[in-house]
Amino acid sequence: EINYFFPKQQTLAVIKPDAMEEHRENILEEIRGSGFCVTQLKEMVLSRQMAEEFYKEHREKPFFSQLVEFMCRGPCMMLVLTKENAVEEWRAMMGPTDPDQAKATSSSSLRARFASDILHNSVHGSSNEQHAEEKIRFIFSDISSDTEPKTDSKTER
Ligand code: PPS
Repeated sequence: EINYFFPKQQTLAVIKPDAMEEHRENILEEIRGSGFCVTQLKEMVLSRQMAEEFYKEHREKPFFSQLVEFMCRGPCMMLVLTKENAVEEWRAMMGPTDPDQAKATSSSSLRARFASDILHNSVHGSSNEQHAEEKIRFIFSDISSDTEPKTDSKTER
């Protein structure tokens, strides 16, 4: 009997600007080698406005403006990873937010190996399923570029 029901989960993974030049290929290889299916992928430079929206949950944190500035400074790689338990597995692969802690507790994690500090920490991953869905929609829906520009009643067509 064939089981057509595969309960897969999705998460949003980001390769941050600090890791794009030197570690991108390594990270992509490890993602694929760990059984994730990369179901969407795009390289993009976040605008300030997008970065602020992306990290809106951290708006009140003292590091918010630094974080936004850093995330806009160059291209990021945005990936949708699909696998059973993808959210948790990707977070385990990344390791703790702070690379010092990552080096101490999970030395094989991506952040232990590639991150330089808590701001420049190479990768991002959604913290739960609901965030994953919201952020994937935000990054990959591209609604504004797919629809016609709104017509001004005074504009001739
Ligand atoms: S929280 O409060 O547990 O949700 O925060 P955390 O997941 O640890 O961090 C959220 C993101 O903010 C970045 N961060 C920092 N940047 C600069 N300075 C400090 N002190 C700092 N602390 C946290 C951190 O890199 C997280 O980024 P993402 O992209 O979510 O991993």
